[in-house]
Amino acid sequence: MKLEVFENSEIVDIEVAKKIIHVIKEKPNALICIAGGDTPKGVFKQLIDAQKNNCCDFKEVSFISLDEWVGISDETPGSCKQTLYDGLYTPLNLKESQIHFFNGKAESMIDECKQMDKIVAEHDGIDFVLLGIGMNGHLGFNEPGTNTKNSSVLQLSPTTKEVSVKYFNKELPLRYGITLGMSQLTQAKNIVLMATSEKKREIVNLTFRGEKTNQVPSSLMQGTHAILCVDEEAGRDIK
Ligand code: GLP
Repeated sequence: MKLEVFENSEIVDIEVAKKIIHVIKEKPNALICIAGGDTPKGVFKQLIDAQKNNCCDFKEVSFISLDEWVGISDETPGSCKQTLYDGLYTPLNLKESQIHFFNGKAESMIDECKQMDKIVAEHDGIDFVLLGIGMNGHLGFNEPGTNTKNSSVLQLSPTTKEVSVKYFNKELPLRYGITLGMSQLTQAKNIVLMATSEKKREIVNLTFRGEKTNQVPSSLMQGTHAILCVDEEAGRDIK
């Protein structure tokens, strides 16, 4: 895993967006996966500006979702789907056929996983994945103690349930998450792990300098071609 530390979060947004744009220029029909959560929101803005300024053409790109809260639909503000649609897909004017997203309310979660695995396989893997790092090191909903290959439904950890309040403004009876699997993420052709702000300092240090263990899923990116992009606040301990 390579480390890139930038002066502040705005510069991280700009640099991460440049990496995505580079991949799309090389492969206009790339399969791109961008995490929900708060971390990539500044990158959304950079990508939307790139389209407005004719610096990037998203017409042939496919987007696949990273994860979703089980039991939550896109009508719930704070769901991963709503975050991606409002923040990125709708402003980019994407066609529905370009978007593949986990349905947190699907009747069969097994079918939902199969469907997403099929899409990854049909594209011969993910070309670029942008991951946020959860407070406990989770990637998507690959929670501590798990090590999945393909799409899976996993029990949410107590930390994830606590943190969920920031997305929904209230406690919801959340128990499971549906997520792409760790092997699908580690095998992506380009991987960026992104973390900003002081509150991510400890988990960033564990990710990069800590033991490689599935107790901290983000540390499983050690020894891969992933790039960890952080601002100075999040990267203070590892500089
Ligand atoms: C959330 C989401 C992930 C996200 C991660 C970090 O629970 N399931 O998609 O990348 O945890 O979230 P944030 O960027 O809000 O810190």
